[in-house]
Amino acid sequence: MSKGSTREIVVSGIRSTGILHLGNYFGAMRNYVRMQDDYNCFFFIADWHSLTTHPDTRELSESVHRVLAEYLACGLDPKKVTLYVQSDIPEIAELYLLLNMLAYKGELEKTASFKDKVRNQPDNVNAGLLTYPVLMASDILVHRAVKVPVGKDQEQHLEVARNFAHRFNHRYGLEVFPEPYAFNFGQDLLKVPSLDGAGKMSKSENQMATLYLGDDDDVIRKKVMKAKTDNGPTEPNTPMPDYIENLFLLMRLVSDNATLLHFTDAYNNASIRYGDMKKALAEDMIRFIAPIRESARELEKNKGYLHQVMKEGADKARASASATLLEVRKAMGMMYSFLP
Ligand code: TRP
Repeated sequence: MSKGSTREIVVSGIRSTGILHLGNYFGAMRNYVRMQDDYNCFFFIADWHSLTTHPDTRELSESVHRVLAEYLACGLDPKKVTLYVQSDIPEIAELYLLLNMLAYKGELEKTASFKDKVRNQPDNVNAGLLTYPVLMASDILVHRAVKVPVGKDQEQHLEVARNFAHRFNHRYGLEVFPEPYAFNFGQDLLKVPSLDGAGKMSKSENQMATLYLGDDDDVIRKKVMKAKTDNGPTEPNTPMPDYIENLFLLMRLVSDNATLLHFTDAYNNASIRYGDMKKALAEDMIRFIAPIRESARELEKNKGYLHQVMKEGADKARASASATLLEVRKAMGMMYSFLP
């Protein structure tokens, strides 16, 4: 057997709405890149999911291309992983239909993400919004994945996916689906704080407090310099307020140890100048983001290459998905024209 067929199967996706930011990088992309050598990875762009909140498709094509370029710019190698767009895989929709028959309205209404969305868009509580977790379960189960690298906010969706896997196997008496689990290299699931000290970085909210992978150098500088601080500690070893701790957290992600140590010491002996700290952080942030941004911009211009990646990814993903659907139909006894 080849190495490829024995490696554990991994699936994860990113919605194609909004612009990717530092939180996406450290919460998702970095883990994807680390997994690409050791697992059989399927990473995709969830364009169907984005329809639940953004029914207007005019900007979809552009954002799909951009997310793909950003995936590649972050270091995902299409020779190692299967990169595709969700809507290129009709088998996902077929599985979604079948799993919907096993999904109960009550359990779907209970998910935190549904309740949030109902609050955010009371005029568009569509069935797709309610069944968002069913579609996500289909994304995962269609490849019979066991590991799903996602952020903390997705744990409840994973639980729903496990329930569907279990329910399907139980109902039709065959172990078609393994139960998938969230995966994060044994560390706590990372949250990248926003620059205003309120919550985490976001695709659509508080754009001045979020660093996007596409931000230009001067924009990065401006955002970091505007980050919330105060007059600084007046006594040594004062406990850090949240927003200051956040700056250190960001520094830990992109700066070297010497820099981090320098400002930690300065804080602890109450001699820190936040202006200096932010200047150093901004330059390190630029050193981190600029190569990704530039590489993504180059890739985005190369539509021919992006299409080739999507096409090859779709072929590989469909091969995997249709093998699962065959097992699903067999288990359900729905193969009328295939059987003698
Ligand atoms: N719901 C995920 C998010 O908002 C995106 C997603 C869709 C996903 N399908 C998935 C993630 C399957 C992992 C696996 O971030």
